Amino acid sequence: MNSPKKLVLLGATGSIGDSTLRVLRKHPDKIKLVGVSANKQAEKLLKIAEEFDVPHACLTHAPEQNISVPRCTQLNTGSKSLEELAALDQADIVVVAVVGAVGLLPTLSALKAGKDIVLANKESLVMGGNIITDAAKKYGAKIIPADSEHNAVFQCINGQPHRAIESIVLTASGGPFREFPINNLANVSIEQALHHPNWSMGKKITIDSATMSNKGLELIEARWLFDVDPDQLEVVIHPPSIVHGIVRFVDGCCLAQMAPPSMTFAMQNAILFPDRHEAVEPSLDFSQPLDLCFTPPSLERYPCLRLAQDALEQGKSAPLVFNAANEVAVDAFLMNRIGFLDISRIIECTLNDSDYIYTHSIDDLLEHDTSSRIIASRHIERIA
Ligand SMILES: NC(=O)c1ccc[n+]([C@@H]2O[C@H](COP(=O)([O-])OP(=O)(O)OC[C@H]3O[C@@H](n4cnc5c(N)ncnc54)[C@H](OP(=O)(O)O)[C@@H]3O)[C@@H](O)[C@H]2O)c1
Repeated sequence: MNSPKKLVLLGATGSIGDSTLRVLRKHPDKIKLVGVSANKQAEKLLKIAEEFDVPHACLTHAPEQNISVPRCTQLNTGSKSLEELAALDQADIVVVAVVGAVGLLPTLSALKAGKDIVLANKESLVMGGNIITDAAKKYGAKIIPADSEHNAVFQCINGQPHRAIESIVLTASGGPFREFPINNLANVSIEQALHHPNWSMGKKITIDSATMSNKGLELIEARWLFDVDPDQLEVVIHPPSIVHGIVRFVDGCCLAQMAPPSMTFAMQNAILFPDRHEAVEPSLDFSQPLDLCFTPPSLERYPCLRLAQDALEQGKSAPLVFNAANEVAVDAFLMNRIGFLDISRIIECTLNDSDYIYTHSIDDLLEHDTSSRIIASRHIERIA
C-alpha cells in the first residue's frame, strides 16, 4: 500500500476548506494533512489542527488574544508564513483555497518548491497566469484544477493532445438573478445576492456568481490552464449545475463531465488524481428526470461577464485590473456602500482608466494590482 500523500491546505476554514476536509475524513489512509492556514477564524483553525493532528498551522491575521495550538509546532502570523507553509518541506501537494489576490504569492511559492498544487483560487491565475504557468513548467510541478468547471474539463481532456481541442464550454447556473426582472436589479439586497440557488460557497464567490464575474474569471483561468485562445472559450447557462464542463473536440464530438453540485466531487478528483475512490456524497440519480437544458447568457443581464471577456481579449494586465476592481467593488457591495449594478460600473470605469502592461515581474504585477485598487476605490467614493 502507498503511503498517504502529505497535504497542505491554505484556506482551511473556508467553504473549499470544508469540502477538502470532508474528503480527508473519508480517505484518512490516502491523505495526511501536514499544514493548515486561516485568516481570522482562529478557533476553527485550532479545531481542525487538533482533529487532524496537524503539525503546522498559520493564522495570517494576528488574533487579539494569544492562542496556543496543542501539538502544533508553528502558528505564525502574516502573509509571509503563508508562503512558507506553501513550500513546507514535508508536503507533496498544496491545496490553494484562500480567496482573492492573496493566493498569488503562496501559489508561486508552492510551485517554486516543486509542489503539485490543487488550485481553487482562480484570482491568482487571473492576475499572473503567465508567471504561474511558466513557474509550473520551470520547476516541474503540476497545476490540478479544482474549480468544478475546470476540473470537469481536465477530466474530459484526459491526456488528449492539445490540437484535438476545438473549444471549451464552461457552464454557469446563472445565479440568483437569472430570471429576475432586469429593471429591478439595481435594488437587490445583499441577502438576495448571497442566496445562491445551487451552491453553498464563501461570500465573495457567491456575489461573483450573481454578477457572473465568476464565470468571467473562470474564462481567464481556463485560458491559462488549458492554453487556449479566447475564441475557443464558450459559456452556457445550465441552471441545475449538473454538467460542469464540456470539451468540444475537432471531430465534432463533445465530452461532458457530470456530478451533483457539491465541491467534494471536484476536490476529491483533484486531490486523489490520478486515482478514483469512493465519493463522500451520493452520485447522480438517473431514475429521476434530469434537466439538461443549455442557453446562452445575456450580456445585458450580466455586464461583468462582458467586461471579463473584453479583458481576456485585451490581454496584458487587463484581467488583473478586472480582478482588482471586482474585489474592491464586491467588498464595497458587501459593506452596503454601493448597489448591485455599481459593481459592473466600478469595474468598467477602472478598466477605462488603466494602462495595461505586459510583465514577467511579480513586483510590477503587485504594484499594478495596488494602483488598480486605488482607482476602483476612488470610483467607489464618487458613487457611494
Ligand atoms: N466555494 C466554492 O464552492 C468554490 C468553488 C470554486 C472555486 N472557489 C474558489 O476558491 C477560493 C476560496 O473560496 P471559498 O468560497 O472557500 O472562500 P471562503 O469560504 O471565503 O474561504 C476563504 C478562506 O481563505 C482565508 N482567507 C480569507 N482572506 C484571507 C487573507 N487575506 N489571507 C489569507 N487567508 C485568507 C479564509 O480564512 P478565515 O476563514 O479565517 O477568514 C478562509 O480560510 C476562491 O478563490 C474561490 O473563487 C470556490
